[in-house]
Amino acid sequence: MEKIIIFDTTLRDGEQAPGASMNSFQKLEVAAQLEKLGVDIIEAGFPVASPGDFAAVSAIAKLIKKAGVCGLARCIDKDIEYAGRAVKKARHPRIHLFLATSRIHLKYKFKKAEDEIASIARGSIRQARKFCCDIEFSPEDATRTEKYFLYRMIELAINEGCRTINIPDTVGYSYPQEIYSLITDIRNNVPNIDKAILAIHCHNDLGLATANSLSAVLAGARQVHCTVNGIGERAGNASLEEVVMAMKTRKDVFGDFYTDIHTKEIFRTSRLVSKLTDFIVPPNKAIVGANAFAHESGIHQDAVLKKRITYEIMDPHDVGIAESQLILGKHSGRHAFRERLKSLGFWLNEEQLNKAFGRFKEVADKKKAIFDDDLRAIVEDEIRLAKPLWQLNSFEVTSGTKIKPEATVALIKKSKNISGTSFGDGPVDACFKAIDKITGYKAKLEDFRLEAVTSGKDALGRVSLKLKIKNSIISGRGASTDIIEAAVRAYLDAVNKLKTK
Ligand code: KIV
Ligand code: ZN
Repeated sequence: MEKIIIFDTTLRDGEQAPGASMNSFQKLEVAAQLEKLGVDIIEAGFPVASPGDFAAVSAIAKLIKKAGVCGLARCIDKDIEYAGRAVKKARHPRIHLFLATSRIHLKYKFKKAEDEIASIARGSIRQARKFCCDIEFSPEDATRTEKYFLYRMIELAINEGCRTINIPDTVGYSYPQEIYSLITDIRNNVPNIDKAILAIHCHNDLGLATANSLSAVLAGARQVHCTVNGIGERAGNASLEEVVMAMKTRKDVFGDFYTDIHTKEIFRTSRLVSKLTDFIVPPNKAIVGANAFAHESGIHQDAVLKKRITYEIMDPHDVGIAESQLILGKHSGRHAFRERLKSLGFWLNEEQLNKAFGRFKEVADKKKAIFDDDLRAIVEDEIRLAKPLWQLNSFEVTSGTKIKPEATVALIKKSKNISGTSFGDGPVDACFKAIDKITGYKAKLEDFRLEAVTSGKDALGRVSLKLKIKNSIISGRGASTDIIEAAVRAYLDAVNKLKTK
C-alpha cells in the first residue's frame, strides 16, 4: 500500500478565503487539532504577508511535534527569508516556493520571458535551500502552462534539490480526465521526476476540486493539498474530509492507498474551523454537513433502520459523528416514528401508535422538523386517554380588534358529529364556551398556562389548564402548532377526564 501525504493548507490558502482570517491564538488552536487529525504537513501561513502571520507560523513551528510545518514564499528574497526564519524551529520545516509559469501570468502579471522565469526559480530555490533542506516548488497556474515549459520548470526545480513538486490548478479550470493526463504526461516526460514527490493542489471554481485531486492520485500524485471544509480562495480548495473519505470509502478504486488521517477527528476539526473562521458549514456539505447523515424520507428511514448500508455509504462514527439522524418530518414513516418513540421510552400498542402517528403527520405538515420534545407532547396528548368520549373534529374562530370573537367547534362523540357556536371574550374563551354548549357542562377556568415546547416560530405550543366542573378540579393538557387548538385540546382533555372519573 502506498501512503498519500496530506498537506493541509487551511491556515494558508483556507485563510485566504474572504472573511476567514484568524488571529495567532486561533491558528494555534487549529494547528493543534490538525496534528490530532493526523495531517502530514501543515502549511501554517505566508510569513511575509504580515507580522501576525510571521508570528503565527513561528509559534506553530514550535508547537507542532509530528507534522511538518511549512511557510509559503514567492520567489522573492524577502519572502524566502521570512519563511525560512518562521519555520526554523519546526521539527520538520518546509518552505513552499511558488512562481507562475503560464503564458497568461508571464505576459500580464510578470511581463517576463520564460528564460527569466527559469532563472528566478533557480536563484530562489538555491536561496531557500540555505534555510531548509525540504523545499516544495509550485509552478503556479500549472494546469494552464504550456507543457514543454512546465516540464522544463519541474526538471529544473528537481535538479536544484526540490523534494516535492506541486501542480496547482490555481484557477480551478481543469476537469478530472485532464488532470489524469497531465500528471501522467509529467511522469512520462520529466526525466528526473522519480527524485521528487508529485503533489496536487486543486481549486473548486467548477466544483471539481475533490474529483480532480482524486484523479491526480490515480495518475501518480502522492501528496494532496487540501483544506478543512474546503475553505479557500474564491470557491475554495479540495476539501480534506472529502478527499480522505473518498479514498477510504472507495476501497475498490483506492485500495492501494492509505492516509494517516484519524478520520474520527474529522467532524470535530470541521466544527472548530467553522467556529473560528465564522464560515458556516452548509447543511448539505459532503461528510461534515448537518444533513450528511440525516434521513428524512420515510422510505429511506425505514430502510436505514433495517440495514444502515441501504442508504449510507459511510459509517457516521468513522468521521466522528455519534450516529445517523432520522429527522422526523412530513416524509417520515411509521417505522422511524415508532423507533424514535421507543428511544424516548414510549412503548405504544398498535391503536395508540396509529393515533399518535396520525397526530404526528398533522403536526409535521405544519412544522418543518419534529423534535423529541414535540414528540413527547404529541404522544402524551394522544395516549393520556385511551378512549376519550369527546374528540375534536374541527374548529373555526373569527376574532380581531373590531369584532366580537366567535367560535364554532365540532366534536365527535361515539361516531356522531356535534357542533356548537358561541361568542366569547377572546378566541379561546369563545371555543371553551362552544364546547360547553356541546357537552352541557358549566366549566370554570381556574388556571391557564401556555408555553413553547421547542424553539422557533413554528414551535409547538403546549397549554396546561385547570377546570372546575361540578366541584372537581381537573387538569388538562394539549399541544399544537396553533395555540388555540392547543387550548381546545387541553380543555377537552380535562372534560374527558371528568367523564371517565
Ligand atoms: O492556488 C495556487 O496556485 C496556490 C499556490 C500558492 C500554490 O495556492
Ligand atoms: Zn491555492
